[in-house]
Amino acid sequence: MRRQRRSIPWVLLAPLLLGLPLGEAAPAALPSELRVRVRLPDGGVTEESLQADSGADCVTLELRKGDGTLVTLAADFKQEVKIFRALILGELERGQSQFQALCFVTRLHRNEIIPSESMAKLRQKNPQTVRQAEEVRALEHLSMDVAVNFSKGAQLSSHIYNVCSEAKEAIYTREEDVKFWLEKGVDGSMFEVLPQSTDLPDLQRCRLCADRWKPCICSYGLSIEWYPCMLKYCKNRDAAGKVSSYKCGIRSCQKAYSFDYYVPQKQLCLWDEET
Ligand SMILES: *[C@@H]1O[C@H](CO)[C@@H](O)[C@H](O)[C@H]1NC(C)=O
Repeated sequence: MRRQRRSIPWVLLAPLLLGLPLGEAAPAALPSELRVRVRLPDGGVTEESLQADSGADCVTLELRKGDGTLVTLAADFKQEVKIFRALILGELERGQSQFQALCFVTRLHRNEIIPSESMAKLRQKNPQTVRQAEEVRALEHLSMDVAVNFSKGAQLSSHIYNVCSEAKEAIYTREEDVKFWLEKGVDGSMFEVLPQSTDLPDLQRCRLCADRWKPCICSYGLSIEWYPCMLKYCKNRDAAGKVSSYKCGIRSCQKAYSFDYYVPQKQLCLWDEET
């Protein structure tokens, strides 16, 4: 399959085009939604939804994987929090309930994703084009060693309440992220450190564990197939020859994540099996 690349397939609607002076937002900061067609690693095509709310300073991406799993990423720029949620369809013939929800909460760094305000202005020239990211970022491996209490989680980010409501018992984060949020003044009582291999020497990876009822370390991987990770700047030369730069597009990235977390029973981690 040939990758379709265009130099600037994306246009950030320049405020000047709208007749608004630079730096001034559109009248009401309504959430905006963009739908893009994205190529999946298995060759299939999925529709990805990108929502931006510049008022709340957050961005939400959602896509359905080939196996039906719904993957959501909510980036809360105000609280410096990003939330990954996976709604995994169960295999009914294996006696699994209809779906399993997982939430992974981690620190949002500056410059990981373009600002919500720019995302809200993003338009595509050709909505039918199937996109593939220009840059593949390295797989990130995260060890999720802390559980987050759902009812208190809204104090960390209000989006936890909306995004993780189906994953109340399965919201995970990392001690290093917790440290960062505690320094910002977030209430620590919502976090509970999970058992580690150092506490339970028998604790092994679920894929190596034969007993369905034993605790183990589960792995779950997901990938954000396409997201605007950087702004592109173009140069402009005015009549007097003075050069200025302005935002004129985005660079797209793909990034995969692998999360390790404790489960009290291997049967909660049935996808993580040796094949
Ligand atoms: C989460 O916090 C609520 C409110 O304080 C508490 O009632 C509940 O027991 C906690 N849940 C867990 C699993 O610790």
